[in-house]
Amino acid sequence: MKQTSIEGPRVIVALDFPDGDTAVRFVRGLPPGSCRLKVGKELFTSAGPELVRQLVALGHDVFLDLKFHDIPNTVARACEAAAQLGVWMMNVHASGGRRMMEAAAETLDKVSGRRPLLIGVTVLTSMGAEDLAEIGISDEPAAQVERLAALARAAGLDGVVCSPREAARLRAQSGDDFLLVTPGVRPAGAALDDQTRVMTPADAIRDGAGYLVIGRPVTRAPDPVQALEAIQAEIQALG
Ligand code: C5P
Repeated sequence: MKQTSIEGPRVIVALDFPDGDTAVRFVRGLPPGSCRLKVGKELFTSAGPELVRQLVALGHDVFLDLKFHDIPNTVARACEAAAQLGVWMMNVHASGGRRMMEAAAETLDKVSGRRPLLIGVTVLTSMGAEDLAEIGISDEPAAQVERLAALARAAGLDGVVCSPREAARLRAQSGDDFLLVTPGVRPAGAALDDQTRVMTPADAIRDGAGYLVIGRPVTRAPDPVQALEAIQAEIQALG
């Protein structure tokens, strides 16, 4: 069964740590149920599926951020393997095309138990108009994002990862049952790190973000629990 309604913690903490021990030590310091966790390419490549199983066994909802992009059969099998790890959310590149996304979604539909959420990556926020032109896409990034988000929705995906700056337009385009997952979020006054176009958690949610991916403002905070609680308080104040 699909679960695009937003339930539970809205913050997905990006576990951008170099190894599994450091990640698990950090996670054990968080209050249970206070956030979701994102495992990306760096941590997965160093710590592997065993870490994901461990986080799931500790009771955490895990977003496996491996951005699959391959022929439909290979992506579908990878999604099935991710589902078997018990992850809550996973993603594929929408630029892999309709058939690839449909194959992934259909595979997850057959998963027994809780169906993981399947999210599309549209245009990487590191890419600008010139980068797109070099790979043969002459449209502006915003237009390409909208095209890929519509394709992802038509192919049966549950939502897309997007910049919070794109959230309002995508929310208007896609309707209420399409999830927007936004990185590039910074609480007011927090360091920007290498993010440039950021929004606060409250503004991102006001613009339609369902879940917020937040890394360094929590993981590098002197007191991560307090940093997380401050973000949650900002979100709860929205009502
Ligand atoms: O530390 P920070 O909050 O910037 O971490 C954001 C996380 O979201 C990182 O894991 C980063 O790779 C990811 N991300 C992003 N921008 C995107 C897509 C993913 O920052 N457009």
